Amino acid sequence: VGRVPLIAGNWKMNLDHLQAVAFVQKLHWALKDAKHEVGSVEVAVFPPFTDIRTVQTLIDADKIAFSLGAQDLSTHDAGAYTGEISGAFLSKLNCGYVIIGHSERREYHDETDEVVAAKVQAALRHELVPVICVGETLEQREESGPTAVSVGQLEVALEGVPSGADIVVAYEPVWAIGTGQVASPEQAQEVCAALRTVIAEKLGQDAADRTRVLYGGSVKSGNVASFMREPDVDGALVGGASLVVDEFAAIIRYQK
Ligand code: G3H
Repeated sequence: VGRVPLIAGNWKMNLDHLQAVAFVQKLHWALKDAKHEVGSVEVAVFPPFTDIRTVQTLIDADKIAFSLGAQDLSTHDAGAYTGEISGAFLSKLNCGYVIIGHSERREYHDETDEVVAAKVQAALRHELVPVICVGETLEQREESGPTAVSVGQLEVALEGVPSGADIVVAYEPVWAIGTGQVASPEQAQEVCAALRTVIAEKLGQDAADRTRVLYGGSVKSGNVASFMREPDVDGALVGGASLVVDEFAAIIRYQK
């Protein structure tokens, strides 16, 4: 349906601001020198907060066509919330995206579905596109099947989201994150299709048709194309492999 594929690199807590400069420049050159043209793929990087200003300056100065995002934001806009980062600050740094509800935040920072929903609202207040992450643990998959947990998480996250909102959804099975135990393309397709149905029910068919649904979890250059061939998978949210210049460049240059 003409959705531009999105290849997103979530750096997690890796690369300080000096390493970020070297990384972004090397990736830019790796893509420029590519024998194969990068097709109409959007590339986004999600550095730690402390790198965002540096990466933004570099992208602007060298006219690098990468989108920029943050890995989290506060539910609040401003005030006495020590250590928190407002969506307002992120938009002022030209961040277009913000990851919300990553399983590592749900697990290590006790983020509930309700907190995730509040963060989605905060992102939208500041014209940031929320990249809403959902996904089940192996135990949950065995108990309630492949789609129930992700569908339930997305239904809560989309409460109060207007139908015209620009969002991205990422299906990241917890058992596939950083484990090398990748989901099969068919497993990814099944859940991504179910998530698109939730978007249609909550926000309408137009939103479902235009919203990109990504797969994440041990994506590498050797398996990305198999996911991208699936009709409801519109891109990848890449962790570990997004930190290796040649590997991430090869993921971006995937051929169907
Ligand atoms: O946000 C990215 C995901 O957690 C995937 O991480 O590619 O290292 O498995 P991974």
